[in-house]
Amino acid sequence: MIVIKLGGSAITKKSEYRSFNESVVVNIVKTLKGINDNMIIVHGGGSFGHIKAKEYGLPGFASERTMKGMNIVHNDMANLNLKISKILYSSGIYNIPLPVSSLVYDNKKNYAVFGKYLNMGITPVSYGDTYIHGNKIGIYSGDNIAYDVARRFHPSAVVFFSDVDGIYDKNPKTNPDAKLLKTISGEFQHDDATPDVTGGIMNKYRKMRGISDLGIPVYLINGLYPERIYNIGKNNFTGTVI
Ligand code: ADP
Ligand code: IPE
Repeated sequence: MIVIKLGGSAITKKSEYRSFNESVVVNIVKTLKGINDNMIIVHGGGSFGHIKAKEYGLPGFASERTMKGMNIVHNDMANLNLKISKILYSSGIYNIPLPVSSLVYDNKKNYAVFGKYLNMGITPVSYGDTYIHGNKIGIYSGDNIAYDVARRFHPSAVVFFSDVDGIYDKNPKTNPDAKLLKTISGEFQHDDATPDVTGGIMNKYRKMRGISDLGIPVYLINGLYPERIYNIGKNNFTGTVI
């Protein structure tokens, strides 16, 4: 079994509210269909999550405003999830959406239901979303879910799809001389000047590192070239291995 995280920056246009990159998702799903293995799929929010979360002060203490924001963000995320679920279904990947609110409450997490669907050959699809955390309205990121399910189910690999070729020594979007780090095995220190509501590349790296510390190989691949997943372990692989 492998865990796939579809990054919001690949599946949406991150700066344009609720702008879905349908052709990118169709292409990724076609590639996933070619992999002969069970999968757990987790997706992020991109412009279906981060824009309104920021606007409504999420994560934050429960208030009229944050509760309204919770509802908007959840509805938008469920909407994005439905689009992805339908594309998976159209490719013959039968799947079941599992939202965070049904899995995580305060510090209690229950991922057992993933195993039930996996055993039936049905692909669980979860996604970053809002949830209640003590007296706060939190955001549980897709990267955190990917880490949690990896810990629980010990997949043979975890693959993160994003909109960059891998992790660089600095942000490749703002530094044309940034160098792609093909392998990272130790500390990675980096100041992301524009972190999103779930921590941007640093939180992603921390979670990837956490998965790798469990003895599971972790990869970051550009979702615009999903076929690179077939080159994992080969000399011509383009991406970052943790
Ligand atoms: P996703 O939405 O795919 O889960 P994020 O948007 O959180 O991922 O993180 C990917 C983004 O992080 C890239 O689009 C890139 O602009 C930014 N970034 C910042 N620093 C780096 C870095 N050192 N290497 C790669 N990407 C970086
Ligand atoms: C956060 O999930 C989703 C919301 C903001 C509701 P992620 O943090 O995994 O989303 P991306 O992949 O970075 O967009």
